[in-house]
Amino acid sequence: MRIGPHTFPGRFFLAPLAGVSDRPFRAICRGMGASFTYTEMVSAHGLVHGTLQTESYLDRDPEEEPFAVQVFAAEPDVLARGAEAAVRAGAGIIDVNMACPVKKVCGTGAGAALGRDPARVEAAVRAIRAAVPVPVTVKIRAGWDEGEVNCVDVARAAEAGGAAAVALHGRTRAQMYSGKARWELIAAVKRAVGIPVLGSGDVWTADDALRMRAETGCDAVLVARGACGNPWIFRALRAAELGDPSPPPTSRDEWISVMLRHVTLQIEHRRRQRPDEPADEAERAAVRELRKHLLWYTRGRRGGALFRREADRLVTAADVERVLLEHFPPGSPAFEEDPAAQRAEGGE
Ligand SMILES: Cc1cc2nc3c(=O)[nH]c(=O)nc-3n(C[C@H](O)[C@H](O)[C@H](O)COP(=O)(O)O)c2cc1C
Repeated sequence: MRIGPHTFPGRFFLAPLAGVSDRPFRAICRGMGASFTYTEMVSAHGLVHGTLQTESYLDRDPEEEPFAVQVFAAEPDVLARGAEAAVRAGAGIIDVNMACPVKKVCGTGAGAALGRDPARVEAAVRAIRAAVPVPVTVKIRAGWDEGEVNCVDVARAAEAGGAAAVALHGRTRAQMYSGKARWELIAAVKRAVGIPVLGSGDVWTADDALRMRAETGCDAVLVARGACGNPWIFRALRAAELGDPSPPPTSRDEWISVMLRHVTLQIEHRRRQRPDEPADEAERAAVRELRKHLLWYTRGRRGGALFRREADRLVTAADVERVLLEHFPPGSPAFEEDPAAQRAEGGE
């Protein structure tokens, strides 16, 4: 699987996820076998002005190659200048968000609103291509609403502008994250363009991801909500790709150690952003940031609901460890999977 000059070991990627796909979570997913990851969406205006929040989005592991930064803005020239700033910070791929359904973003003409106008899509990709020497990819939706399903035209426009790949989330903007993603549209886009097509939508399990590839012919699959609390999905997918046996279920010890590693990575991430912040404040901020992940990790386990009731008590890294060990002692049925519990839904 290639995008421009970059070759990826496999075809299962972590999707861009606002508030989720930061450096710590990307590192965990890569460690499990994700072949590629993106930053969350970053404002091109913010990149141009270099805000502190933007800096935190650009924090990356030196081994994260190529580093893909997803940008959003309405105006081609702002996207181009934002892309230049991202490339100066190490980006090796620029992905343009034409999929975000949020009012605040669409209201400015960015995100899914940009995807309403194929001519502007083409102009945006062309402007970024002219500004930076790295591949430009786009992420689009099925369309704006049921009456305006234009993904094939938009994908063609992106290709005409010089995009190196197109990712399609098979829901309309009106659907937000509800209803079903239309995988047949991923197949239609794949038939319509010559560049690699990445499929997204309703990939909850490794089987879903494999089925999406088989049913749509897409070149790679983006795992989004299905990875929240379950980065192990990439281990199963990597094994399937390599023809290895399915990995055994995650052990309680490994499960806890991944969560604790996530806590450590999150604290380090925070401290890199704010070197002047007192260490205890940085730790508290990182644990606050991590709470949603801990809720996702514990979903579907018998002891999950009780653990989640204690979420407000999780202030320091030591609290996380203590409360996890209290609720999930070795050999306890609390760790067992609970078929009645909901699957992780990724925080919408
Ligand atoms: C919490 C959350 C944040 C998201 N943030 C982004 C984002 O920053 N950029 C983007 O292109 N898509 C974003 N998405 C969309 C996902 O990348 C993906 O396309 C979508 O969730 C459909 O896949 P799923 O049904 O398998 O979750 C986000 C989705 C969720 C749930």
